Amino acid sequence: MVDQMQELQDQITKLLESALNQIQAAESTQILQQIRVDYTGKKGQLTQVSKAMKNLSNEEKPQLGQMINYFHREFNQVMASKEEALKAKELQAQLASERIDITLPGRRNFQGSRHIITQTREELENLFLGMGYQIVEGPEVELDSYNFEKMNLPKNHPARDMQDTFYISSEVLMRTHTSPVQARTMEKHDFEKDGPLKMVSPGKVFRRDNDDATHSHQFHQMEGLVVAEKITLADLKGTLTQFAKAFFGQEREIRLRPSFFSFTEPSVEVDVSCFKCGGKGCNICKDTGWIEVLGAGMVHPNVLAMSGIDPEKYSGFAFGVGIDRVAMLKYSIDDIRHFYQNDLRFLSQFKGGQNRC
Ligand code: PHE
Repeated sequence: MVDQMQELQDQITKLLESALNQIQAAESTQILQQIRVDYTGKKGQLTQVSKAMKNLSNEEKPQLGQMINYFHREFNQVMASKEEALKAKELQAQLASERIDITLPGRRNFQGSRHIITQTREELENLFLGMGYQIVEGPEVELDSYNFEKMNLPKNHPARDMQDTFYISSEVLMRTHTSPVQARTMEKHDFEKDGPLKMVSPGKVFRRDNDDATHSHQFHQMEGLVVAEKITLADLKGTLTQFAKAFFGQEREIRLRPSFFSFTEPSVEVDVSCFKCGGKGCNICKDTGWIEVLGAGMVHPNVLAMSGIDPEKYSGFAFGVGIDRVAMLKYSIDDIRHFYQNDLRFLSQFKGGQNRC
């Protein structure tokens, strides 16, 4: 029996020695946890040794008990101090790895903006909304009858050549101008119910053009149409003067030059006094003091009649503004193709639309 006790004591001493060595060598609290399980867990080495208790005599039992307690005291003490040291080390490592350098610059969100053509269109819309116009949209794929015939351009009329386009079929085409919306709107208009007709219609138009700095096979227009009793050329001139001043600056004047459109009679080209030189002459106005901005005229009686409006009772004016063109003038853009190339270096110059030239 003495031998067995001695043997147990030796075993526990060795166990303690190897446990303490392992604890000292441990490099993480996770390893410590494992050591605790290995020695004092349910199937741990010390637990195994303790099982000898039941074979001992009553005198011997307390002796083994003391040895086991001794093991636990030593083991727990060394374990606790090692654990504390490792925890501190691990916290340091964690803090170091999660460190945030508050001096680094933040990440900027990319903020887009509306296209300059859209901004210009909206500026024009707002201007005419303010004068009591309604905004109407029309189809980009249009019938020959609306695009040409109801605009007083019968089949084989030579003036059709000015606006050659892309045909879908002999009767269906990509509209060459926003003027067909005039006919579409007049047909539906009821003067008794709706009062005078005042509308603008912005949108895309298409022409079979070779693209260059001032031409594109696709561009934007805004049509304007006013029809009521006793509308005269003076109304047209007054309206377009308002537009020129609001859009290009309060000092602007306009002048009308005779022109030809099949759907207006008389027809005019409208020039705005040069906003760069004020009329003295410069490279923008090609030394004339005036810049051509749009076509306009009094609605041709045939056009009124074809849209079901009595030309004896009603008269009207119409105008067509090139949105790309006025945007180019206003913002000194030298090539219409910039609008369609989606180059952010170009587009981002117009954030907020404040870049007046
Ligand atoms: N539709 C014409 C064009 O595209 C412009 C215009 C519109 C002229 C209205 C007069 C009246 O050239």
